[in-house]
Amino acid sequence: MLHRTLAAAAAVIVPFAFPQKIISLVGDAWTVSNPELNVSVPAHLPSQAHLDLYANQVIGDPYYGLNDFNLRWVAWSNWTYTSAPIVGLSSNASSTWLQFDGLDTFTSIEFCGQHVASTNNQFRQYWFDVSSILSSCPAEEDRVLSINFGSAPKIANAIANEPGQETWPDGVQIQFEFLNRWFIRKEQSDFGWDWGPAFAPAGPWKPAYVVQLEKEQMQVRNTLVDIYRQGQLPLTIPDQSQPWIINASMDYYGDLPRDAELRYTLIDMKNNTIYRGELTDVNSTESIITGQTMIPNGAVDLWWPNGMGEQNLYYIAIEVMSPSNRSIASVSKRVGFRTIVLNEYPISDAQLAQGIAAGNNWHFEINGHEFYAKGSNFIPPDAFWPRVTPERIDTLFDSVVEGNQNMLRVWSSGAYSPDYMYDSADVRGILLWSEFEFGDALYPVNPEFLANIADEARYQVRRVNHHPSLALWAGGNELENLELDLVNESAPKEYPKYLKQYETVFLDTLLPAVFENTRSISYTPSSTSNGWQSLNFSNPIPIVERYNNLTPGYIYGETDFYNYDPSVLYNDSAYPVGRFSNEFGYHSMPSIQSWRSQISEADLDFNSSTVMLRDHHPPAEGLNTSNFANASIGQAQMTEAVELWYPTPNKTDSVANFSAWCHATQIFQADLYVSEIRFYRRGSGLPERQLGSLYWQLEDIWVAPSWAGIEYDGRWKILHYAAKDAYQPIVISPYYDMATGNLSAWVTSDLWDPASGTAKFQWFNWEGNRLPINTSSSVDFNIGAINSTKVLQTFTGVILGDYNPENVVLRMQVGAEGKLPNTNSTRTFLHESWFHPTALRSANLVDPGLTLEYSESTKNFTVTAKTGVAAWVWLDYPAGAVVAFDSNGFWLGADCSREIGYKVKSDSTDGKWLEGVTVQSLYNQTLPY
Ligand SMILES: *[C@@H]1O[C@H](CO)[C@@H](O)[C@H](O)[C@H]1NC(C)=O
Ligand SMILES: *[C@@H]1O[C@H](CO)[C@@H](O)[C@H](O)[C@H]1NC(C)=O
Ligand SMILES: *[C@@H]1O[C@H](CO)[C@@H](O)[C@H](O)[C@H]1NC(C)=O
Ligand SMILES: *[C@@H]1O[C@H](CO)[C@@H](O)[C@H](O)[C@H]1NC(C)=O
Ligand SMILES: *[C@@H]1O[C@H](CO)[C@@H](O)[C@H](O)[C@H]1NC(C)=O
Ligand SMILES: *[C@@H]1O[C@H](CO)[C@@H](O)[C@H](O)[C@H]1NC(C)=O
Repeated sequence: MLHRTLAAAAAVIVPFAFPQKIISLVGDAWTVSNPELNVSVPAHLPSQAHLDLYANQVIGDPYYGLNDFNLRWVAWSNWTYTSAPIVGLSSNASSTWLQFDGLDTFTSIEFCGQHVASTNNQFRQYWFDVSSILSSCPAEEDRVLSINFGSAPKIANAIANEPGQETWPDGVQIQFEFLNRWFIRKEQSDFGWDWGPAFAPAGPWKPAYVVQLEKEQMQVRNTLVDIYRQGQLPLTIPDQSQPWIINASMDYYGDLPRDAELRYTLIDMKNNTIYRGELTDVNSTESIITGQTMIPNGAVDLWWPNGMGEQNLYYIAIEVMSPSNRSIASVSKRVGFRTIVLNEYPISDAQLAQGIAAGNNWHFEINGHEFYAKGSNFIPPDAFWPRVTPERIDTLFDSVVEGNQNMLRVWSSGAYSPDYMYDSADVRGILLWSEFEFGDALYPVNPEFLANIADEARYQVRRVNHHPSLALWAGGNELENLELDLVNESAPKEYPKYLKQYETVFLDTLLPAVFENTRSISYTPSSTSNGWQSLNFSNPIPIVERYNNLTPGYIYGETDFYNYDPSVLYNDSAYPVGRFSNEFGYHSMPSIQSWRSQISEADLDFNSSTVMLRDHHPPAEGLNTSNFANASIGQAQMTEAVELWYPTPNKTDSVANFSAWCHATQIFQADLYVSEIRFYRRGSGLPERQLGSLYWQLEDIWVAPSWAGIEYDGRWKILHYAAKDAYQPIVISPYYDMATGNLSAWVTSDLWDPASGTAKFQWFNWEGNRLPINTSSSVDFNIGAINSTKVLQTFTGVILGDYNPENVVLRMQVGAEGKLPNTNSTRTFLHESWFHPTALRSANLVDPGLTLEYSESTKNFTVTAKTGVAAWVWLDYPAGAVVAFDSNGFWLGADCSREIGYKVKSDSTDGKWLEGVTVQSLYNQTLPY
């Protein structure tokens, strides 16, 4: 039932009392110590040992130079966090509890000198009844909490060496710097990854509390709010005409009175409208109380992702009432009303009639609408989560929105996202495809391990389900498409055994954790996969995976594509055809400004051992400073790419040369990603009906060669600008087969309504003179919703005639009228791309005569190319600030100007960075200075 009253929202957001006594353990009343190493220093909670040791100068900056290797001893040691005596505890409470929202990872916990418990999972919440310990501990000075954190690498190795322990065929388990990560429930990339360092930190990484309860008092430790259309099940297409169901469920400990009731208050933040009522069908157990209500269709406004409408949000407060109508506990969550489904159903007859190839769908639908998912992959933003702030995530997510992205795949094998990350995504309309933390390995299936991960998964699913930005749960990273294939290659006879193990973890254990708790969120066991083969909710495990049961000519599932052969640039036949691309990429170097923040001036060289040793690609088992053969492979891949496609930097000053090389690797990276994004997006209008492009990877965890588009401090690489351009709603793009000279251009639109416009084509030489090369100069087109259309088809061999391909470039521009989703006004969309028939390495680049001006009044820069076509125009700015220009890394026609605004993300230069802005283009790369 829905009762509506009007009131001032502020007065009712926190209408409840919190009768239980909560003493927060967050703060500085801690020390961290290791007696054998004779270290004992002040510490913080939440924290990790490296952070406290660094704060006390016991170690240097973990990110500096080769400290990734030098600080291994910290990870091999135990670290004990000891509190000051906990004051203010009442001695006659009914019960006293310790609650830990996160312990990383292996602990032995003591209170008042008595053993409380041991823990072994970074991703679980733990709560312990310490009433009897407290009652035997009357002196306040004895009420000390101490948490001894074991060495995760040591313990992982010990578990691996237990007799009878599981083993896997050669080459299946991907190892990084520390070994045996799959035996432990800790952030897998803490043991190293190809884009990051390996610190294996330890510590109380999330808040902790002491909670004291009286009779008829309870502590709600976690809350599930599930909002779905009546009748909806995960992975099924909801009926958008159905009312909403809100299902709320609280995990608690303490004393819940019999016949307790649940009340709710729903507040519409737009106009302070308040809906109140009782939840019905209330059930409770000794750890959970659940109830639900119905909200009529149309009573609330929908939440939409970025670019598709507004992010309408509501607050819901849920209150537990005793039979005598006393408020016992309450929680408040910000929620949104939306359906988000991963559609993996077979291609229907209606879809076949639209020209879509047979097979299965693999795309997302928001509120009943297909959409094109544009985005990237999020990795842990720091090796030490406790120092990540909500503000840092907000700044990063602003860049996501500015980059025209609507979805991030939050890669598994990091940590489950904190609530503030979902909060930030909720208000910005960023869909977070979320994953359980498993990847690039198979996992044990002993009962203890399975019970441990089931607890972990249930806790996490329930914790974040209310966020409208939550888009999906996936079991883990590169399992079906990589791990199972590796088993098949290495030990085909044992495939059935390991397939069964895979299903035990990802279908039998993780799937129920999702489906028993949410009806609004879809689950897929693996990113990447070919999707389900059948879905039947009358089976205990409703999904049967398709694996490689493929019908030739049919199209299924997602793609994941890496090929460190730089000749795949512009080569459409090399890219995979599928329904969705969840990963693709190539690494590049960070900027010199970033390098300078983490390595010494003497190491600023492409082949210095420090730079090489910070390149962890390809993965090297047990990487250390005397084993960096692999690093040279990763560095060589970047070098080869630059040499194959672009003029090679050859500056006389060695640091300038290093910087130019770093920049050149970023040009290749941006060029390749745009080439792939164009290919995937065009597929929305081809038989594959391709509906998503998420490149690898959004951001960096430190300063090193990586696939990121945003550097550790927030600075945008060329990639982030180039993707921003390629992710505009309507784009025009060339497609070229260098071998045959087949040249086409397509317009792609991801608007939800048809659009129409004109494409224009103009040939120039590099000096900027128009050339009378015979292609259509203007083509009118209509384009359907989320579709693509060919606007040019020719052969360079035919049209170029006597023109030297090294001297010609083609500018293609599109202007189209269309409507953004969920808006009624038509607007104009403009986009341009440049085509060059030869590699830019052999193009006859001329000095474009770039100039840069800044206007104090408009706060805009103006870049002008006076004497030629400028390729890859780049505005650079000094260290000390992080600035996002409205556009960068673009091409500029001769005698053309572009005005460019900017946003300052951080600035420690007092505005001085403005004076240091420079402009260059690819032409400068060939100059000696
Ligand atoms: C190290 O920590 C682990 C886990 O807490 C514990 O079992 C072990 O006894 C500790 N060792 C030392 C020397 O403190
Ligand atoms: C409570 O249990 C009953 C009987 O099992 C069930 O029909 C009802 O849906 C449950 N309530 C909730 C909110 O799940
Ligand atoms: C508040 O806004 C919601 C959503 O726009 C609307 O349905 C409702 O009628 C509004 N309430 C009032 C009292 O204006
Ligand atoms: C894309 O547009 C073409 C041409 O109008 C049309 O035949 C096709 O059905 C459209 N595809 C979809 C999926 O709507
Ligand atoms: C690099 O520049 C030097 C002079 O500055 C020149 O001798 C050398 O040939 C150049 N190398 C390449 C590969 O262009
Ligand atoms: C668009 O127009 C329709 C029909 O007039 C109307 O129902 C809808 O509310 C409008 N949407 C927006 C976002 O203005």
